[in-house]
Amino acid sequence: MGKKSRKKEARREEIREELERYGSEILQSEEMQQAFRQRHHTLSTVGAHTMRVAATSLAICYALKKLKIKTDIPAVVKGSLCHDLGILGRNEKFHSSGECSRQHPVDSVEIARQLTGELSDKTQDIIAHHMWPVGKSKPPRSLEAAIVSAADKIAAVTDFVEGYSEQRPGVRDVLHIIRDRKKENTEWKTKKK
Ligand SMILES: [Fe+2]
Ligand SMILES: [Fe+2]
Repeated sequence: MGKKSRKKEARREEIREELERYGSEILQSEEMQQAFRQRHHTLSTVGAHTMRVAATSLAICYALKKLKIKTDIPAVVKGSLCHDLGILGRNEKFHSSGECSRQHPVDSVEIARQLTGELSDKTQDIIAHHMWPVGKSKPPRSLEAAIVSAADKIAAVTDFVEGYSEQRPGVRDVLHIIRDRKKENTEWKTKKK
């Protein structure tokens, strides 16, 4: 293993440990199991998306730590793991995508409270404002909430791209097809000459 991949593996391990340490009751909940059964962002699941948001949020926190900027890791773990649990059962619960967009953060706060007991102001801020700047969401009030909101948007893009490469010809496959066609065409043209 090269130095770079060893570093990457160590970072992954650190993220895993932190998620276990502060989020085990959420990770083991019935809601989280259900999250892995509900589709999200076309080809992903709420669960896969949630794990991406949590990992990306922590990676941002570690990068800030190098700049000597402290973040509340327990709040980031709890908030990112719970941010979309209120979206479970969306088709039965919400009548429109507008209602879903407005209401699911409110419902996620409620589920987070049930799963973890006392919710810190920061955890609540993270969950309640994670949709910002989409829709009518109020802006985050803390650095931690801004981090998870940014991670949520980054993860949404990854959901689409990785979902495609897992289940359909992905971006990379399409590029291969175009390259092969181009090759075929040039060969064909040369043959014709
Ligand atoms: Fe959301
Ligand atoms: Fe999300």
